[in-house]
Amino acid sequence: QPSRAVDLVEEESGAPGEEQRRWEEARLGAASLKFGARDAASQEPKYQLVLEEEETIEFVRATQLQGNEEPSGPSPPSQAQQKESVQAVRRSLPVFPFREELLAAIADHQVLIIEGETGSGKTTQIPQYLFEEGYTKKGMKIACTQPRRVAAMSVAARVAREMGVKLGNEVGYSIRFEDCTSERTVLRYMTDGMLLREFLSEPDLASYSVVMVDEAHERTLHTDILFGLIKDVARFRPELKVLVASATLDTARFSTFFDDAPVFRIPGRRFPVDIFYTKAPEADYLEACVVSVLQIHVTQPPGDILVFLTGQEEIEAACEMLQDRCRRLGSKIRELLVLPIYANLPSDMQARIFQPTPPGARKVVVATNIAETSLTIEGIIYVLDPGFCKQKSYNPRTGMESLTVTPCSKASANQRAGRAGRVAAGKCFRLYTAWAYQHELEETTVPEIQRTSLGNVVLLLKSLGIHDLMHFDFLDPPPYETLLLALEQLYALGALNHLGELTTSGRKMAELPVDPMLSKMILASEKYSCSEEILTVAAMLSVNNSIFYRPKDKVVHADNARVNFFLPGGDHLVLLNVYTQWAESGYSSQWCYENFVQFRSMRRARDVREQLEGLLERVEVGLSSCQGDYIRVRKAITAGYFYHTARLTRSGYRTVKQQQTVFIHPNSSLFEEQPRWLLYHELVLTTKEFMRQVLEIESSWLLEVAPHYYKAKELEDPHSKKMPKKIGKTREELG
Ligand code: CDP
Ligand code: MG
Repeated sequence: QPSRAVDLVEEESGAPGEEQRRWEEARLGAASLKFGARDAASQEPKYQLVLEEEETIEFVRATQLQGNEEPSGPSPPSQAQQKESVQAVRRSLPVFPFREELLAAIADHQVLIIEGETGSGKTTQIPQYLFEEGYTKKGMKIACTQPRRVAAMSVAARVAREMGVKLGNEVGYSIRFEDCTSERTVLRYMTDGMLLREFLSEPDLASYSVVMVDEAHERTLHTDILFGLIKDVARFRPELKVLVASATLDTARFSTFFDDAPVFRIPGRRFPVDIFYTKAPEADYLEACVVSVLQIHVTQPPGDILVFLTGQEEIEAACEMLQDRCRRLGSKIRELLVLPIYANLPSDMQARIFQPTPPGARKVVVATNIAETSLTIEGIIYVLDPGFCKQKSYNPRTGMESLTVTPCSKASANQRAGRAGRVAAGKCFRLYTAWAYQHELEETTVPEIQRTSLGNVVLLLKSLGIHDLMHFDFLDPPPYETLLLALEQLYALGALNHLGELTTSGRKMAELPVDPMLSKMILASEKYSCSEEILTVAAMLSVNNSIFYRPKDKVVHADNARVNFFLPGGDHLVLLNVYTQWAESGYSSQWCYENFVQFRSMRRARDVREQLEGLLERVEVGLSSCQGDYIRVRKAITAGYFYHTARLTRSGYRTVKQQQTVFIHPNSSLFEEQPRWLLYHELVLTTKEFMRQVLEIESSWLLEVAPHYYKAKELEDPHSKKMPKKIGKTREELG
């Protein structure tokens, strides 16, 4: 695909100026970049992009997000001033004037809903106020939950710095597979999932004096379940304080749920934000993003840029494209710092987004939804919003869960826009039309509990002794069929008996902080004597999708390197192979570099593996190796994932039970092989329903590992003799 030209087109103005000529000289490979002329009347530059010759995208200014500050109001403390005094910065936050009032309200009420604009200091300040007020006396702890691991980590780091303590001492964080807390830790930032798991070891949260459920408006599955559990605990622990903190959304709902708990409002600083839309819909939003960032960079006054993309792969691609183009432009443009932020980014890289932008340069932060409300980055003036997010969706009829890039909601779009108006009047560029905003975006995001499978949560609730799930106190109940299906699935996995009670094996499965199917696979490795290999597979699956990298200029080498890891049997064995070779290299980063493997992902896999290994004893699985007999490994995987199976039919792959049409992902090692029976780790819906991480299996194994679930008859193959050798297109044909 030829790269599209980047052209900031001069509209009706006269002769090209000196600057413009320079731009015309600055060829970007096939692309060129020119300055936009100023519109004489408004002094606003024309926001127009031309992509390839005839294609024109134009941004039009449509609406304004109202602020409560004058656009030209006093600017907040500069980065330099901020460095001077941590305490001064703390005092400058919108929550600070309300400190006493807030503490009084907390003292007066057991449950308090706290509503405040993003960046007003809820997450970093309120737990500190409570600490200063003595809520952590007698070794009591304060929990503050975050839906996202990155937020938990970075907020804890920030608070530790503000308090002048070492992270992991008084202030720490706890996320899955990573515990940065100690005996001394009294302020615990943790993911909502981790607090949920705390209930397993401490059902009444007896060691906590305060639980702050933060980012409640996100309505993640775990946060929603926490609501029900905490409401219950609060009834028999009157001294426990419960805070529900949220951006300015939905707080009335929370109040009603918690028996009309009072709502404490913290007015935030909000400067007006001008909102621009594209004139026409954009086909390739990634490319359009890159173009727009460069355009903002060369036409707009100083101020950092925040771009919202949907996930790691996309973010890395965008960053690479941006860096590439900046390199080619060289000194012709001012310096542009390109910084990614997403869930699996290592902490040293995360910290970089908070570092002040050097004078003369501009920073562009390319983020997932994480930057929508959980993280506040100082200095953002421009927001670029393609209008998408990655969402789980679940079909309770078929039991199929998939991750899909979908349009975000209006509420989301407005939160994103709001990020541009925190330090001064800002601009938000939406890469979609005003019409699309009005007609194509939902008002709000559907709570996760209504679009995800519930196996995990049901297993946890059952372990907590909550049997009557139909009458659990849900803020919004999940669909009945979804609950039913979760129960069925747990029964099939042997976690529940026919009365819906937890079995011994179910209790063990709940001990492992992974999905029931993965737990089951790990437990099954005992029977097949291959726990060493299965631990590796489990760890590698959990860092999934980010093992290999594929630099644009070395695509062929990278693809060859990847193919060299292929083993007959499928992708799980490829993952195992990569890890084993890496371990043999002495966990070398050089080895990763030479093999186009992401060192960071591997390091994480190693951490996860160690953690899981540490839990094996608790679930009574001994360490053992299959000694190269990969059939055993494949059977153990099948014992966990017999739910995710597909067979090749005349018309391609169909899932075994539900007969849904699915496709092998083109990145899979089995893409060309097209085995008759396979299992998949997950489904990802892009242009089609793709199976990612697939493993070849034999149908007879299904009867061996799940005789209660499969009948011999449904595994018969009616057209076994006339199977076409190959179905579907080759990788080349797919492009
Ligand atoms: O929770 P809320 O959105 O109300 O605000 P916050 O996260 O407590 O942020 C308060 C201030 O701390 C903001 O000015 C952030 O920029 C700053 N902060 C930071 O510099 N680094 C972090 N890792 C987190 C917050
Ligand atoms: Mg916050």
